[in-house]
Amino acid sequence: MDFTSNHRPDDMARINTPELAQAFIDEAVAYTREQVGDGKVLLALSGGVDSSVVAALLIKALGKQLVCVHVNHGLMRKGESEQVIDVFRNQLGAELIYVDATDRFLDLLAGVADPEAKRHIIGEEFIKVFDEEAAKLEGIGFLGQGTIYPDILESEAGVKAHHNVGGLPAELNWELVEPVKLLFKDEVRVVGKQLGLPDSMVYRQPFPGPGLGVRCTGAITRDRLEALREADAIVREEIDAASAAGTLERPWQYFCVVPDYRATGVRDGKRAFEWPCIIRCINTVDVMTAEVPELDWALLKKMTKRILDEVPGICRVAYELSPKPIATVEWE
Ligand code: XMP
Repeated sequence: MDFTSNHRPDDMARINTPELAQAFIDEAVAYTREQVGDGKVLLALSGGVDSSVVAALLIKALGKQLVCVHVNHGLMRKGESEQVIDVFRNQLGAELIYVDATDRFLDLLAGVADPEAKRHIIGEEFIKVFDEEAAKLEGIGFLGQGTIYPDILESEAGVKAHHNVGGLPAELNWELVEPVKLLFKDEVRVVGKQLGLPDSMVYRQPFPGPGLGVRCTGAITRDRLEALREADAIVREEIDAASAAGTLERPWQYFCVVPDYRATGVRDGKRAFEWPCIIRCINTVDVMTAEVPELDWALLKKMTKRILDEVPGICRVAYELSPKPIATVEWE
């Protein structure tokens, strides 16, 4: 395989078996060792499939010559940052810098209700935090990236800019290390599995960069964000369990939204004025259109009961029926 090329040869075999994944890993490790020599690589590790697989691959190739930075913006799902630390630092022995920037992000977002303004703040601040960490390090010559082949194709077609960490000072002039840039998503998962990453990471559903920030609509408050995080964990747990038991075909994406208004309820005989929680599930092929799966009534009732019983501040649960279009997948 030509790791210097941005073009996937037409006759390249699809990596869909452990043997093919291992052959790819061996080649990628050898190439990366040659490319980096005794240099050092920095990688922004979000916990998403692509950056996680690149991290595991680079740890195998480079050991402590790789430095990972995980920025927790306070908008991660329940247990996600903890899993990144456990898998990469504790199990794989990575050099991992963990930055808990929760207060920075939530303070900046306080009172900001406009969805685009929220997205902008989160994106800008993320780059700032990463740059600050990068500036503290010495001897870095390379930047690792979880670029995959659809990113290159979309970038060439002008659909979206080639995703990268962005705001790193240009004078750093770091060389890119992008070992999975010719692979499709399904192949990245097969490689991740072969590298021993847990299924919950390899088959992680897509999660937007602004995280729970676009699902805690309007101006984010810490208590509502916490309610959303707990409700989301219940929905993921129940849908994952039903999928594992074979009673449900795992939807493409499934999560909760907690809007910034309250509704009346009765709790312990007293009036309660609490938030509603909307469960959103979609199936899609290309994310341009999406359909809502018909979830089993018993599963919906079980999730509803658990959310109402276990999540303080939520007094109603609704299941969203809107397809895309007109509705987008995310509420903001
Ligand atoms: P929409 O809401 O546009 O979402 O229908 C389509 C898919 O994209 C995900 N999404 C994002 N992913 N950064 C990302 O990496 C983002 O800012 C972002 N916004 C939406 C969304 O979860 C869905 O899978």
